[in-house]
Amino acid sequence: MKRDITAALVHEHKLILRMLAVLERNALATGAGTYGNYRFYLDGVDFIRNYADRYHHAKEEDVLFEALVKNGMPRENSPVAAMLMEHDQGRAYVKALEIAALSALAGDGGQNRVIAENALGYVELLREHIAKEDDILYPLAERLIPDAARDAVIAGYGAAEAQTADDFEKRYAEVVESYEAETLGHAA
Ligand SMILES: [Fe+2]
Ligand SMILES: [Fe+2]
Repeated sequence: MKRDITAALVHEHKLILRMLAVLERNALATGAGTYGNYRFYLDGVDFIRNYADRYHHAKEEDVLFEALVKNGMPRENSPVAAMLMEHDQGRAYVKALEIAALSALAGDGGQNRVIAENALGYVELLREHIAKEDDILYPLAERLIPDAARDAVIAGYGAAEAQTADDFEKRYAEVVESYEAETLGHAA
């Protein structure tokens, strides 16, 4: 049996999707003027940058997608190219969200709409992106990448994991949990 090369990524999607659910709930409330804990958005940006991007997207961009390209998928005008473009679109939403949240924390009371739009835009983009990876690209990778290439993929994931602290996953899971448990009630 071929060794699995996508289950770890599907597992990481689950924590990312939980953060997206919190982001959606809170952004809807901020848009409605009923949630003003702007620090959440900076913690959300930190989660996205470090867990979703530097950790998870790095495994995709540097390891799995490279293996797909080496094993026959075109680099341009291909599912890999589309996924890379969506990673970049996500980074633009996150940058705009960070700027707006920092302004709000500095006392600018007019940022709620910008915060809500960028957070909700990111949620929609990344949910669809994750669905495409889970349902189409990862199953394709499991079919396309031969057994002989799998050791290198698994080693590549290991290298990404070795760059993070031992409690990295646990720490980000706790951030998600703490905001899932937050009662909304701060006036925006
Ligand atoms: Fe991705
Ligand atoms: Fe992904």
